[in-house]
Amino acid sequence: MQKIKISIITCSDRASSGVYEDLSGKQIKNTLTSWIANEIEFFYHLIPDEKQAIKNALELSCNEQKCDLVFTTGGTGPALRDITPEVTKDFIQKELPGFAELMRMTSLKYTPTAILSRQIAGIYNNSLIINLPGKPKAIVECLEPIFGAIPYCLDLINAAYIEVKDNAPKIFRPKS
Ligand code: MTE
Repeated sequence: MQKIKISIITCSDRASSGVYEDLSGKQIKNTLTSWIANEIEFFYHLIPDEKQAIKNALELSCNEQKCDLVFTTGGTGPALRDITPEVTKDFIQKELPGFAELMRMTSLKYTPTAILSRQIAGIYNNSLIINLPGKPKAIVECLEPIFGAIPYCLDLINAAYIEVKDNAPKIFRPKS
């Protein structure tokens, strides 16, 4: 089974300055470890809500660490310092609006404030980049509906071949 490389970028002024623990980043790691059967190498970036810091973390994740999957968490809302989607949009080569549409749509079942997340997703070379909100409970709420499409998306961009455990959400790979 192929090894998969996953980057977790936590964008948070407060978590990065030690005001609180980065529980969202941990939640992403735990959730993916419980669903993905491949060996996973995680890369972790805990950074403030600064344009250059986010850009650097995306560049490092995709160009140097060559991650198949890159998840950001935090900075997707309307607050003045929230800039993760803008920096992601500048960085990606191709947007995949369906991921964010589905995450927002499904999240509305849990909270009406799901409409406040401006999260996006897209492709940079062989990496799929997905913005997640910054709350630990939002991580599973967002990952669960989209997970089924991630393995095939990685197949299409020549990234690692994901295999999943029995408890993972059902994945869909159409036969070509
Ligand atoms: N989506 C889910 N699934 N669950 C949540 O609790 N919180 C919302 C929204 N999306 C939420 C969610 C709230 S309150 C905000 S402000 C936005 O995500 C942006 O969060 P962020 O700035 O931490 O990224």
